[in-house]
Amino acid sequence: MIRRTYILISILLFPILILTYFYLPDQSILLTLLIILIFVGWYDVLQKKNAILRDYPIVGHARYMLKAIAPELQQYFIETNTSGHPFTKNEINLINSRSDNKEEFHPFGSELDFYKNEVSWVGHSMIPGKERKTQPRVLIGNSNCDKPYNSSILNISAMSFGALSAHAIIALNKGAKLGGFYHNTGEGSLTPFHQQGGDIVLQIGTGNFGFRNDDGSFNDQKFTEKTALPEVKMVEVKLSQGAKPGHGGVLPAAKNTNEIAKIRGVQPHTDVFSPPLNPEISSIEDIPKFIGRVRKLSHGKPVGFKLCIGVKSEFEQLIDYCVSQGNIPDFITVDASEGGTGAAPLEYSDHIGMKGEDALVFVDQVLKEKGVRREIKIIYAGKVMNGFTLLKALCLGADLCNSARGFMFSLGCIQSLRCHTDTCPTGIATQDKALQEGLDPTVKSNRVYNYHKNTIDAFLEIMKTVGCNDISELNKELIHN
Ligand SMILES: Cc1cc2nc3c(=O)[nH]c(=O)nc-3n(C[C@H](O)[C@H](O)[C@H](O)COP(=O)(O)O)c2cc1C
Ligand code: SF4
Repeated sequence: MIRRTYILISILLFPILILTYFYLPDQSILLTLLIILIFVGWYDVLQKKNAILRDYPIVGHARYMLKAIAPELQQYFIETNTSGHPFTKNEINLINSRSDNKEEFHPFGSELDFYKNEVSWVGHSMIPGKERKTQPRVLIGNSNCDKPYNSSILNISAMSFGALSAHAIIALNKGAKLGGFYHNTGEGSLTPFHQQGGDIVLQIGTGNFGFRNDDGSFNDQKFTEKTALPEVKMVEVKLSQGAKPGHGGVLPAAKNTNEIAKIRGVQPHTDVFSPPLNPEISSIEDIPKFIGRVRKLSHGKPVGFKLCIGVKSEFEQLIDYCVSQGNIPDFITVDASEGGTGAAPLEYSDHIGMKGEDALVFVDQVLKEKGVRREIKIIYAGKVMNGFTLLKALCLGADLCNSARGFMFSLGCIQSLRCHTDTCPTGIATQDKALQEGLDPTVKSNRVYNYHKNTIDAFLEIMKTVGCNDISELNKELIHN
């Protein structure tokens, strides 16, 4: 109906506009705009790909314009302080205040519906623990490792240069240096932007980026040169990621600049796929073998792997193989299925892999049953972003935690959910140099530092409230759901 009406009106209107154009030259701008609109409408009517534009010429574009800014509209006009996803306004505001070194006091009482939502809580003790002046540290490295690493309990989770901009990587690493915590490179390998003096965990992604042969296999020589660098403190072999386990990943051609391609050892301006599993591994038995090979090339530094738990029996088998081959990792990073990503298919983010807290409890229990819990530290990543979530993870079995999106918020992320489009408005998840200019690495590194420090301070205060003096006293019994 609208289509037919438009065709009729535009046919009648077009000659009138052309005539007016010549008789009223002072109205030429307005008339030109109207003529352009008529052409847009005719394009809409004639094209066959998009039914909405064909049926609703011109006005149909409003739908796509509104859709493009839907996350912002949702955030500004619809979401309440507690309803936003994946993170609520209250959670994001807290991170922003901590990053700005401001006090964050919440007025009037909790906004959560205690009897509807699953609200976790921890029991406070009538006798608080002692005041602690220093941040807790955790020593990572078992008897197979010559250079154990003394880690913070909160660190920057794997996010590659490629997923993130150079300015974001520089700010994160400078922040890590200021605060004495580590920064995981993610699967895009080590770059000059990471080398700002902060401690590095070098990740071996499933694509072996940065240390690959032309066929994608692992290059021992290139890898061992990187691990020799003093700022590289540990090595993490990525088996899977919570937001897309078993899927692998893609760096879209738009983000695959000459610079990134050179660092990764791939062709620029092409879609770069990382496989679901490292090509060096084709069976569960191969995993400890690969750990052993990587260990020999890592100059005595701790080596571990990262995974999202899927089939439980496979993980048990994996630990059995590690024990029988004597290739026990120094750490296992447990990634929650609710974890973040630059880009992933929705089915994988929503429905594949075990929920973080269940996975954490399971891994802790298996390692205890197999008698290797003391040898292997558990690192947990999954929406750890404030003092309580950090404490909860440590109670449920983690020795220390990583945070990805918490640190993205400290860089200024506004949760606009377009990390995969190269149009990140805050300069964090883009390779567009103009957009990156908005992100000042020095200013943001201070925010990264403040966020880390204030989160640990908040954690320590809660630990005191529950009556514990040390992280070794935290346990599952303290947490209630
Ligand atoms: C933008 C982005 C990029 C990521 N890139 C990687 C990566 O290269 N390698 C990896 O193992 N995990 C990657 N992750 C997953 C995070 O390291 C982390 O495990 C996950 O987001 C859970 O932590 P969070 O809930 O604190 O975000 C990425 C996450 C985000 C948000
Ligand atoms: S602000 Fe940037 S980093 Fe944050 S969600 Fe949006 S696109 Fe991703």
